[in-house]
Amino acid sequence: MIIAANLKTNFTRKQTTEYIDELESYISKNNTTQDVLVFPATSSLNPHEGKVIVGAQNAYATNNGAFTGEIGLDHLNEFGIKTILIGHSERRHVLGESQQQLVKKFNFYKELGFKIVYCVGEPLEKREAGKGEMMNYISAQYEGIDTSYENLIIAYEPVWAIGTGLTPTLEDIQTIHTDLKEKSTAPLLYGGSVKVTNAKEVLALNNVDGILVGSAALNAQHFCSMIQFAEDIQ
Ligand code: 13P
Repeated sequence: MIIAANLKTNFTRKQTTEYIDELESYISKNNTTQDVLVFPATSSLNPHEGKVIVGAQNAYATNNGAFTGEIGLDHLNEFGIKTILIGHSERRHVLGESQQQLVKKFNFYKELGFKIVYCVGEPLEKREAGKGEMMNYISAQYEGIDTSYENLIIAYEPVWAIGTGLTPTLEDIQTIHTDLKEKSTAPLLYGGSVKVTNAKEVLALNNVDGILVGSAALNAQHFCSMIQFAEDIQ
């Protein structure tokens, strides 16, 4: 399974290094075989060798150039980064990235063979508008995306569940994952208020191939427990 930590705007480079070291030592001590991904803040990126795959939370669709505040491929290459998160709800809804911009970014990093974790998910008003409207909204987030790309991982993250402590019911997660698997056979992660207290149940669901964890992943011990849950289930 794939157990991923999105560290968002947390942890300095020093804290991130200590965090990843703690995960590495857990993984080697326990011989865990899960795919563990960590997405640090951009300024906390560092070259890393080990079992943990370090990815970027964002980068512009360029090698370099005049895009103030953004980084490009040259900067990722400096740290050996070959994995990127695209379409996270905070980038869509807080930073205003459009589907068109995301598609451009997706295609750029796809051409380079990057592992792409592509996020989809509906805001509360779409969920409350009924299943048809909700699925139409999510389907639009698949537009322009090569769903058969071999290095694609999809993360379903309902916007209203991110950082709120709210989650869909287990039944809801399983139903929507089953529907989304019809759009793409890529591994499908669930994200949104996954905690050490609910991760085991979520990971055990059909069509859940892993989890993308935000705030609860900041506790390295909790995150290691989640890696262990996945190991035990497999
Ligand atoms: P939380 O786990 O804090 O809800 O965040 C989820 C998320 O956005 C992961 O990308």
